[in-house]
Amino acid sequence: MQVPQPRGPLTEELFSAFRRGSDDFYPTLAVAPTAVGDDAALALWALQQLHYTGFDGVADELEWDPQLVRVRGLLERDLEARLRERVAVPSGRSFTEDFFDWVDEQDGPSLARFVHRDATVEQVHDLLRVRSVYHLKEADPTAWLVPRLGTAAKAALMELQYDEYGDGDPNRLHHHLWSRGIAACGIEPATDAHIDLAPLEILEQNTALSMFGLQRRLRGAALGHLAAFEATSSLPARRMAQGLERLGMPQELIDYYTEHVEADAVHEQLAVRTIGAALLAEDPAIEPELWFGAAVCLDLENRTALAMFERWGVTSGAGVPESLATGLAPEHKDVA
Ligand SMILES: [Fe+2]
Ligand SMILES: [Fe+2]
Repeated sequence: MQVPQPRGPLTEELFSAFRRGSDDFYPTLAVAPTAVGDDAALALWALQQLHYTGFDGVADELEWDPQLVRVRGLLERDLEARLRERVAVPSGRSFTEDFFDWVDEQDGPSLARFVHRDATVEQVHDLLRVRSVYHLKEADPTAWLVPRLGTAAKAALMELQYDEYGDGDPNRLHHHLWSRGIAACGIEPATDAHIDLAPLEILEQNTALSMFGLQRRLRGAALGHLAAFEATSSLPARRMAQGLERLGMPQELIDYYTEHVEADAVHEQLAVRTIGAALLAEDPAIEPELWFGAAVCLDLENRTALAMFERWGVTSGAGVPESLATGLAPEHKDVA
């Protein structure tokens, strides 16, 4: 994986420091507290990427460089504070009893509805490229959660993860299915081919997920996010598959989505009723964090949908909120 193109003073400093490989990262640390927007989001994404595959030409030792870990901590603290300020966490509702009703009450913009009915092949290709930032390491951010859970929750999460990782068959691994699907569309199955195209909202979807996984303190949010992600996947996956069929796109990509129609209908039940219930039995005080993670998942997906509609100049169509016909949706205006 190649280091991305910088997007501001922090990523300029950070990426040149990555390449120098020196252990003097104090200039990077000095710039970090002032970074905002794309620059901060990309810096955080790259620092977290050191914990996954790293980058070509960047020393593996930098994963645990104390100064870089400090920069990652500053950026995650800032991201977490913004998310906590922004999302509304339901109070007085039971996560295990009320979760699916709560999901049904949410009515945000929908990229899957748009792909189902109205998107062009070019728009779908653009979406596949930026979605690749997640899907090429699908389920990996959730894997950080495994050693942070007690026995019952851990066993149930591994049941779900085992499925995501192909039930022991590398050809069934979900991120491999994704690679095969996009390659059949002529899109390179490599994150570094697309990261420079990813808008802020896609970066934040990924950095929030990794932050939840990498910090034990946020394990409740990680599980809440997983539950919301799975509970908002099955029906949209069906719409995506039908939209791709409408556009005559390759069967390998359609197969990726049809796999998720059934799989995620099972995963959402596992995430809420088995893993969530087990985690709550271990630690009842964690319930608001489960809701926080779930609310973050839906908020970031709404923002991503609005960002993509804006990028395509789309103001009407299936899944597109009416507010776009009259200007930017209000919730999109305060994106940092
Ligand atoms: Fe999956
Ligand atoms: Fe799933």
